[in-house]
Parts: sequence; C-alpha cells; structure tokens
Amino acid sequence: MKIIGTGSALPKKVVSNEALSDFFETNDEWITQRTGIKTRRIITDERFEDIATEAAARAIDNAGLCPDDIDYIICSNVSNLYITPHLSSIIQGNLGIKGPQCPTFDVNSACVGFVYALDLCDALISTGRAHHILLVAAEECTRFCDWSDRNCSVLFGDGAGAVVLGAGEGFKLCHLTSTPMPDVIVYRNPMEATPFERGEGIDTHHALEMKGREVFRMAVTSAVRDIRQITEDAGLSLDNIDHFLLHQANLRINEAIRDNLRQPEEKFPTNVQRYGNTSSASIPLLLDEGVHEGRIKRGDTILMSAFGAGFVTGTAIIKY
Ligand code: UT7
Repeated sequence: MKIIGTGSALPKKVVSNEALSDFFETNDEWITQRTGIKTRRIITDERFEDIATEAAARAIDNAGLCPDDIDYIICSNVSNLYITPHLSSIIQGNLGIKGPQCPTFDVNSACVGFVYALDLCDALISTGRAHHILLVAAEECTRFCDWSDRNCSVLFGDGAGAVVLGAGEGFKLCHLTSTPMPDVIVYRNPMEATPFERGEGIDTHHALEMKGREVFRMAVTSAVRDIRQITEDAGLSLDNIDHFLLHQANLRINEAIRDNLRQPEEKFPTNVQRYGNTSSASIPLLLDEGVHEGRIKRGDTILMSAFGAGFVTGTAIIKY
C-alpha cells in the first residue's frame, strides 16, 4: 500500500486562548506554558460532515482521481452526530459516490484511529479486496467539552484530514497496542441512562473526563517505547526517519518524546499550537500540511505515532 493523495479541511472560526476566559477562569500564559496551544478551530455555523467531505474531496483530487474511482471508504471518528448512520456513508453520499460497490465503515480508536485504520487499509489493498481506499479522520472534539470546565475545554479543536491509498511499496510496518485502562480518558454515551431513568429526570449530560497527568506520563513512555521498537523491527535507525508525525495533544508531550529520542526539532512538525488537539485528525492534518508546503517529499521516510483513550497506541513507518 502507498499514499497516493492527501487532503485536509478546518472550520473557519479561530478561537484564541484569551477568548476562552469568557467561559471560565483561565489565561493565555497557563495554556501556552502547559500545552503550547495558542488557538484552535471550532465548528460554529458549518456542518461537521461538510468539513470531513471537503478533506476527502481534496485528497481524491490530490490523488488525480475522481470520486467514482474510490472503492472503499473508512472514516476514523468519535464524534459523528449520529450513532448510526456512520460518517463514512454520509461522506460517500456527499461525494456523489452512488455505490453499491463501495463498502463504508467507521473506526473508533480515539486519537489513534487513523493509524489503526491505515493497518486495516493495508490488509484490504495487499489482498486485492480494494484498489483505492479513501481514509478520512474527522473530529469535532469541541462537542464533547463542558464549556464551563477549564480542565478539558482548552485542549481541543475540530478538523479533518484524509488520504487516498492504493497499491504500492510505501507502507513498511505498523505496530498497534491496547492496554485496558477504561478510566483515563472517558466520554460517556448520553444514552447511558435507561429510558425509565431519563423519565425520572436523571441528568444525562456528559462531557469528556481525563486524568491529565497520567495520560501525559503514559503518552511519553509508550511513544518512546513504540518508536524505538518499530525502527528496530524495520531495520532502521532513528536517523533514517525524515519526519516524525506525532499525535498533536500537547507540545510538551512531543518535546519530551523528541528529547528522549535525541532527534532534531525540524523532523517534528507541529500544529497543536494553531489547532489544539484534533484527535485522530491531527496526524493526517500534519501530513497534508507537510506535503503542500513541500517539506514532505516523495521517497521520504515518515514515522507516525499516536496514543489515546483505551489506552491504545499506534505507530507506523511509511515511505511517502
Ligand atoms: O488526546 C487526548 C490526550 N490527552 C492528553 O494528552 C492530555 C495529557 N495531559 C496534559 O496535557 C496535562 O496534564 C494538562 C495540560 C491537561 C494539565 O496540565 P498539568 O500540568 O497536568 O496541570 P494540572 O491538571 O495538574 O493542574 C494544575 C493547576 C490546577 O490548579 P491547582 O490545583 O494547582 O490550584 C488546575 O486547577 O492548573 C489549574 N488549571 C488551570 N488553570 C488555568 C487546570 N486547567 C486550567 C486552565 N487554566 N485551563
């Protein structure tokens, strides 16, 4: 499998750290020092599915294909407006792909969904069951936040990244892990209460809850472990990697990983300062930016590494 096209899309509204102090007690200094985040994009008068579709359309165009060339669509998200239908079938409709010979399904592996889905795409393409897969990672994380609680709301932003995948020699190795720790990052389903309980007026309002410090520690430890392991398994040294595309949750997490690996800063592109944590969209957004700005070139070796709720991690090495 190889990546043949990339695309991304973001909501128009840019929200600064200063603007968040309208909602709760916080300030630019605290957010910048602890996370590196300065602004985030938030969906307001747009629709989530349109942002996802725009990223998808750009990736198809960048691949030099038309929507009908796509024969499989997979979407990574945890924030689709509907529990069903899944977002990839909505994107299919928006792109005008009539089907029926174009299966669609969604993946929920939180912030690692894009890397998990890449591994699935490789299985489908290498066995000839799909020729051109559209993989979209689209997230509206700000919908999960309690906008009266400063702990989580300052961290997240909305956005979408997409790739088109086809047969080729690009995908070198993938290493996925899962360690059951169900309480470190949690977003409960609003349907959790039974209809009877809802009838009794039980509060079913839920927002994202996170054990920030624990996640921080696990993120650094697991990323360093996974990155060292996968490069060794691939018979590469860290110096052979041209770009480290790390999940963008917190600049300090990524600096700690980089310091441990002793690799130069220019190999670690970032966008968390501008977009906040866009969950599984953060890596394909970085990829698309790097490609369009000419920093990521054909033949470069890319290492992707993400961590997220579960606790899951995913690391992949790809020749672009
Ligand atoms: O993809 C999802 C992955 N999630 C993550 O990657 C999150 C990983 N964790 C982190 O990034 C950090 O733990 C945070 C940025 C979430 C928090 O940083 P921290 O250094 O661990 O701070 P803390 O939670 O220990 O809070 C320190 C202080 C507390 O005040 P006291 O108790 O010391 O008086 C908080 O109440 O900072 C306070 N605080 C805030 N102050 C201003 C918490 N949030 C804010 C805020 N503005 N937004």
